[in-house]
Amino acid sequence: MSNPSTPTNERTLFGHPIGLFTLFVTEMWERFSYYGMRAIFTLFMVKALAFDKEQASRVYGNYTGLVYLTPLLGGYVADRFWGNRKSIMFGGFLMAVGQFLMFGAGTVYKAQPELAPTLMYAGLGCLIFGNGFFKPNISTMVGQLYPQGDKRVDSAFTIFYMGINLGAFIAPLVCGYLGDTGNAEDFRWGFLAAGIGMVLSLVCLAAFGDRTLVSPTGGDVGKAPNTARQTETAASSEAKASPMSLVVWVGAFIGLYVLFSKTWCEGDVIGSAIYALTIAAPGYIISDPSLSKIERTRIWVIYIIAFFVIFFWSAFEQAGASLTYFAEEQTNRTVGSTVVPASYFQAINAVAIVLLAPVFVSLWTLLGKLNKEPASPYKQAIGLGLLAVGYWVIAVGVKDLAPGTKVSMFWLVALYTIHTLGELCLSPIGLSMVNKLAPVKVASLLMGVWFLSTSAANKFAGTLSEYYPEPVVAVTAVENAGKAQNADLFPANYVKEKRKVNGVNVIALESIKFGEIKDEGARASARTALERDLVDNAKTFAGMKIANLYDFFMLFVYMSGASAVLLFVLCPMLLKMMHGVR
Ligand code: PHE
Ligand code: ALA
Repeated sequence: MSNPSTPTNERTLFGHPIGLFTLFVTEMWERFSYYGMRAIFTLFMVKALAFDKEQASRVYGNYTGLVYLTPLLGGYVADRFWGNRKSIMFGGFLMAVGQFLMFGAGTVYKAQPELAPTLMYAGLGCLIFGNGFFKPNISTMVGQLYPQGDKRVDSAFTIFYMGINLGAFIAPLVCGYLGDTGNAEDFRWGFLAAGIGMVLSLVCLAAFGDRTLVSPTGGDVGKAPNTARQTETAASSEAKASPMSLVVWVGAFIGLYVLFSKTWCEGDVIGSAIYALTIAAPGYIISDPSLSKIERTRIWVIYIIAFFVIFFWSAFEQAGASLTYFAEEQTNRTVGSTVVPASYFQAINAVAIVLLAPVFVSLWTLLGKLNKEPASPYKQAIGLGLLAVGYWVIAVGVKDLAPGTKVSMFWLVALYTIHTLGELCLSPIGLSMVNKLAPVKVASLLMGVWFLSTSAANKFAGTLSEYYPEPVVAVTAVENAGKAQNADLFPANYVKEKRKVNGVNVIALESIKFGEIKDEGARASARTALERDLVDNAKTFAGMKIANLYDFFMLFVYMSGASAVLLFVLCPMLLKMMHGVR
């Protein structure tokens, strides 16, 4: 490496400090554990614990929301008291306990049906808190392996991100294979595998951490709390929690909580808490009087970009919700004589990251050498723009789609691939940027804020996914009314009764007994009537009527497109506020 600040005695692999690979493997196994459990979690609740789907979705949504709320706590504890490594070991241990409790729930659910949910909730609690201690702290350590201003940092985070996705990719395969067998008693083996993955992660960190996690100056990385780690640039004193500002911001949190709960969240406790904390916690951090003016403006940059990132993830995370319905109902998934399961589409993202991350690493390195590498905010604006392009492509694919017809798999594959390109511009670069901009004493805490924006985004994604329009679905379902489960896809107010005629499910909609209409012409006009009716009753979001799939996808084109343009316009100002950091 030609970088002048790289010490000559640095042990490297592929041009990066060897410690990066310790973090790579540690995070790979942790994400294996997280995504492996997640892949079978809802199925477990429905099939083993006999939860209804709505209840299972609620538990799932709350779990994935809370998992990214706790990094605030884990980051705080690491910065003030424990340092990164101890926090990771603690968090990882908690997560392993959580997975083993899930294994316990999967083992006893038949013999002791009242004990199983208790074990599961205890396990989820451990996973939520464990993740809070693990995730922000491993992410901050990546940057600490490099000297200030090292050009390799964006690439380092992209390599690290590849580890995340290697874990995320094999997890559903392994845990799904072991746990999702059709026999509900097997779920526990999936959870056990997730627990073992977590243990492997900890073993890896314990075995290689001391030898490989060293800073460019030869010191330990992540051992001491960050407040104790004085660097040349962060000469200011340790982070101070002024009691007055704590009172003010706790008050603000309570006020915001009540506000969200009474309005937008309609009593949803977890949603209100997430949104209120997303505003109050950053406010508290930045009001720390010991921050210098430059530090404070740099933190503002993190906040502004974190705000835009909410729109990225809330559109991106449709993958698990509306886009999976789309795969299930509107996509022709037949290849030869087999049908590709809708859930497989979720693997495209992880595979594409693993394949494309090296391309991006080379691209950034090459551009860096030519001194043409775009600064972080520009990369993120590009990421948001690519998200809009992905939705635009699929919107074109469904435009003027005749009711009841399905589209080619090509559209979803294209969307996911383009979104992955966007993710690679935005997400690893965001982690890297937080590292570069955050004052050392609150580095992990600000990483927690970064994840908090994901938490809010996931919650918002759920809200947006409720706008997924049903007209075509309804008609399709009616025409295939032989499949009982399709009946569940109807907007409830259109279903008048469900009954069987000669062994075939007939669904009577408000005024039309669709399944009984044999004449093709009559069917067509009934369909048109139903369509018109559904269009008239379509939901509106921010003044936009969402009557069909085209409208729905265009909503995301506008949302991410507008965010991209706005961020792009703000870039010159943000660059100034970054005070020399790129
Ligand atoms: N999907 C990635 C992960 O699990 C990155 C990510 C996490 C992005 C959380 C946003 C929020 O690490
Ligand atoms: N792409 C999701 C996360 O990186 C799985 O990585």
